[in-house]
Amino acid sequence: MQRYVYKRLISPTMDRLDSETWHERARRALHRAEASGSALAVVERCAGFGGKVRDDRLTVTLSGIELENPVMVGAGWDKAGTAVRGLYSLGFSGVEVGSVLEHPQPGNPRPRQFMLAPGVALNRLGFNSPGVAQVAHNLEAYAGSGIPIGISLGKNRDVGPRDAPDAHAAVARLLYHHAAYFAVNVSSPNTPGLRQLQDRGPLTDIVQEVSATVREMGGRTPIFVKIAPDLSLGAVDDVLQVALDNGVAGIVATNTTDNPELKGRYGEYWRTQAGGLSGDDAEYRRMSTAMVAHIRREAGDHLEIIGVGGVKDARTALEKLLAGAKAVQVVTAIRGEGPGVAVHINRGILRWMEKEGVGTLREVVGAAV
Ligand SMILES: Cc1cc2nc3c(=O)[nH]c(=O)nc-3n(C[C@H](O)[C@H](O)[C@H](O)COP(=O)(O)O)c2cc1C
Repeated sequence: MQRYVYKRLISPTMDRLDSETWHERARRALHRAEASGSALAVVERCAGFGGKVRDDRLTVTLSGIELENPVMVGAGWDKAGTAVRGLYSLGFSGVEVGSVLEHPQPGNPRPRQFMLAPGVALNRLGFNSPGVAQVAHNLEAYAGSGIPIGISLGKNRDVGPRDAPDAHAAVARLLYHHAAYFAVNVSSPNTPGLRQLQDRGPLTDIVQEVSATVREMGGRTPIFVKIAPDLSLGAVDDVLQVALDNGVAGIVATNTTDNPELKGRYGEYWRTQAGGLSGDDAEYRRMSTAMVAHIRREAGDHLEIIGVGGVKDARTALEKLLAGAKAVQVVTAIRGEGPGVAVHINRGILRWMEKEGVGTLREVVGAAV
């Protein structure tokens, strides 16, 4: 019912707004709700009409991080870390904040975020970030909350490959006390040259520098590497080798795709437009899930996997979990499916587990590989 109201009434009205404007208003509304306990209680009660799903069968441990369910918010939805508690109240178990850059950066000129079809997005934001100092200030609001916050590490556009390790490490240092994990994001298609940092040499340097920073701070915060769905399997294997050789905890698979064929299906115009496609596109989702399955096959239990790309309901979440993901992330479907998306996914997973006679999520992870 709530989903029907959202999709039939609210979403079409929102479609008249520029996609980024919708996103900003939604984020600001959650941020404002955080200021008042009663507003937040309303948010929680409204999430999927019935509130957050709390059930021990959904809990997962991701690299030592206790998640109350496997559905997190992916990087890009809350780049500045101003709506973490609001998103948690909507039923997500945690939020990957960022990508965060060392210095403030406005990103590309607008418009730069588009809906190509219902549930399918293209963005070329180009790493807009208020900079790490502001994000550190924002995240103070959640200190001691216990909400798992991942920090997506990015670099400013004018930072060359040689300085990239220091740039990532600088963000990790300042946000160390807020981070349940770090994700090295070298897979956004919107910063020239960034994806080349997925190559063996540059990636090793970045991962080693971030690891050294974590050690310097006296901790053991797990580090993930986020990859593009457009990598060849050979290139993925290089990333896996770097990860295994350098104590990386896991892989976030995947970022958006810049495949022109996929973009071109939404009209010739989009084929050559800069930006990455995400959300409810069956082929994109298949590419992204295939990456999860490949990583699981190659690395087994040695690397944890966070599956992201086209997750919008229990079925698409379960595809990723069965392929080997311990947790999934959602970004575009928060817009496409509405604010109850995490609750619907969790309820659907529980229904499926009951039908299949599965007792815990541990039995589900990787069962199809
Ligand atoms: C508007 C937007 C901004 C994004 N910004 C980031 C980012 O800053 N860092 C990052 O690692 N991924 C970013 N992403 C990629 C998402 O985290 C995710 O990998 C991708 O969108 C696939 O998930 P989805 O199909 O659920 O959207 C962004 C995606 C969107 C749609």
